[in-house]
Amino acid sequence: MAANLKGRHFLKLVDFSSEEIKDLLTLSAALKANKRAGVRGKALEGTNIALIFEKPSTRTRCAFVVACVDEGAHPEYLGKGDIQLGKKETVADTARVLGRFFDGIEFRGFSHQTVETLAEYAGVPVWNGLTDKWHPTQILADLLTVQEAFGRLEGLSLAYVGDGRNNMANSLMVGCAKMGMDVRIVAPPSLHPEAELVQMVEGLASETGGKVTVTADAEEGVKGAHVVYTDVWASMGEEAQIADRIATLGPYRVTTQMMEMTGRRDAIFLHCLPAFHNLETDVAREYPEIREVEDEVFEGRWSRVFDQAENRMHTIKAVMVATLGH
Ligand code: CP
Ligand code: NVA
Repeated sequence: MAANLKGRHFLKLVDFSSEEIKDLLTLSAALKANKRAGVRGKALEGTNIALIFEKPSTRTRCAFVVACVDEGAHPEYLGKGDIQLGKKETVADTARVLGRFFDGIEFRGFSHQTVETLAEYAGVPVWNGLTDKWHPTQILADLLTVQEAFGRLEGLSLAYVGDGRNNMANSLMVGCAKMGMDVRIVAPPSLHPEAELVQMVEGLASETGGKVTVTADAEEGVKGAHVVYTDVWASMGEEAQIADRIATLGPYRVTTQMMEMTGRRDAIFLHCLPAFHNLETDVAREYPEIREVEDEVFEGRWSRVFDQAENRMHTIKAVMVATLGH
């Protein structure tokens, strides 16, 4: 790897240069090839890793656990209610204690400030496994999946359709702009990203040859897109807004017609998951219109969502190996 990321935190992609992100993708691909070849690493041997989760998780939790074990580390899951973080003990105090025990700390939760405070006080690398504002490890998996599908990133266009101001929209804008991609946020005006963030991303795109567009027009937004991406309409913690979101985002459901509107035979569909695409979950049975993507797309020829999910593990492993590994 060209860049030396030892000792660095991984809190948001804004903190990383385009080269550093590319290096993490190169390392991810190498670790993936090793895993496929049955080669186990020892880069994290002898280390202990704390995994703090205020919110539920399937992919991120399991990716961290498996990546730790593959590279010889011991992962310790600290779920909601297991520790005092912010309740009977300040985040800064918990950070200083955990930093004495552990070699690295992952945090998933609500406030982005919590993971920043952990990083400030822990004295060991801290990795963001999702906050309300950013989901940076997800973007590495997304970029790796796009790179695998098209052989490159620069110059490709990605249309994110749905809630344009959530952690995924924010993070995709930054990650794609840093890779010189043409990123479009396709959302109703009430769910457009913060103007300040768009301005910052436009600055990033101007340095890489990338482009950022925010539009409410789905046809214009997906035209020519190599990748159509969506996420749930109500993120974790926004359950009270489900009915409102269904009303606002109904026209933005990813359908076969929308995939065809890209005009590209080779367009792919991505979703960070979990996804509502049929009526086989409790929440979708209660709110049948909650589906952000049609089953025909999710299960169809465009979909790379399970390659993308697998890539969570390889990319999270790369983040830990690059920042902590020996
Ligand atoms: N995509 C993602 O972060 O999934 P989990 O919520 O299951 O970790
Ligand atoms: N925006 C979603 C992403 C889940 C991976 C959420 O925060 O719930």
